Amino acid sequence: MRLVKWTSTTAALALLAPATALLRFQCGQLVIDRLDPLVTPGANPSPHLHQILGGNSFNVTMDPAKDMAGESTCTSCQFSEDFSNYWTATLYFKAKNGTYKRLTQKPNAGFDGVNGGMTVYYMQDGLYNFNQTSKVTAFKPGFRMFIGDVNARTQQEAERFRQLTFTCLHNFIDRDPQTLDFPTVPCENGIMTAVRFPTCWDGRNLDSPDHMSHMSYPDHGTFESNGPCPCTHPIRVPQLFYEVIWDTAPFNNKQDWPADGTQPFVWSFGDATGYANHGDYLFGWQSDALQRAMDSPCYINCPTLKTQSVAEMNKCTIARRVNEDIDGWVNALPGNHQANYIRKRREWLSE
Ligand SMILES: *[C@@H]1O[C@H](CO)[C@@H](O)[C@H](O)[C@H]1NC(C)=O
Ligand SMILES: *[C@@H]1O[C@H](CO)[C@@H](O)[C@H](O)[C@H]1NC(C)=O
Ligand SMILES: *[C@@H]1O[C@H](CO)[C@@H](O)[C@H](O)[C@H]1NC(C)=O
Repeated sequence: MRLVKWTSTTAALALLAPATALLRFQCGQLVIDRLDPLVTPGANPSPHLHQILGGNSFNVTMDPAKDMAGESTCTSCQFSEDFSNYWTATLYFKAKNGTYKRLTQKPNAGFDGVNGGMTVYYMQDGLYNFNQTSKVTAFKPGFRMFIGDVNARTQQEAERFRQLTFTCLHNFIDRDPQTLDFPTVPCENGIMTAVRFPTCWDGRNLDSPDHMSHMSYPDHGTFESNGPCPCTHPIRVPQLFYEVIWDTAPFNNKQDWPADGTQPFVWSFGDATGYANHGDYLFGWQSDALQRAMDSPCYINCPTLKTQSVAEMNKCTIARRVNEDIDGWVNALPGNHQANYIRKRREWLSE
């Protein structure tokens, strides 16, 4: 099996030495809804279902001039000055009888009690560089971005992006190996999806037509190796990184899996390969809170930032706009996507 190699160490983050400038926090679930104000603003419903986190000013349309911190009255994220919105598609299990059931998300290690959601990181250097000393420029109000390709169904298409991966959590703290497609065996403690955004900004555009081309990967090397940004995208921004843990526990019985040996999970837009893993981000930190945090050495519980309780995070939810069944067994994915299975595993997987 060929593995993704960008990170190589399995480490329990709780064991890292304190006093590095790395933000790591949980955001609980704001809402699960079929809305996407970045890719399909104004569309109600949007093509596929998302799990959405962060500030409660989230809406069908999010004007870049909107003051997300000013218009929100709460956030589902642990740092209470963070009114950004973070979202990903959701995962479904496809049963042998053709019906689908949505998987829920569970909180990461150290964030017990948080209502699902995901773990968000903002880093100055690679995850396993404990110094975190490089300079980064925080995103600006109105900034937004997307990473991934909802139409990717092959390894080649997925490889255009760095570090959009899956980890099969046999143990809860497993972080490797990471693959670009869905795990092929039951994962006792869930499936983790990781979404890492590009780290070089063009310095001018808060967004772009594909929501990606105002951003770039380093010119050569990687963010982790401190590779320089290209001259077209000279501004080094924090590495934004999502970890979502999907609770596979109700679906780990191999008897319920497809008889042909394929795995049973499918993204909410029909991708059963996993190669179309993607994520969305709307920056919404209050005033200079993010830059302040990036400029002050800290680790996880950064004292320069205000932290709220799990109860307060969980209280911040909004009503769904789209009225459809997202909890029961359903005959079709919301938006009526067909599960797009690739029956034959890629050769590289059996190598
Ligand atoms: C969403 O937008 C609509 C239409 O502009 C507005 O009436 C509503 O108050 C907004 N909701 C939130 C939560 O901001
Ligand atoms: C389809 O299969 C699932 C999982 O075994 C089961 O819970 C559900 O009731 C079945 N639905 C129908 C219509 O048979
Ligand atoms: C972190 O800092 C120490 C001490 O300055 C240095 O020896 C080490 O190489 C640094 N690590 C990385 C990954 O840059």
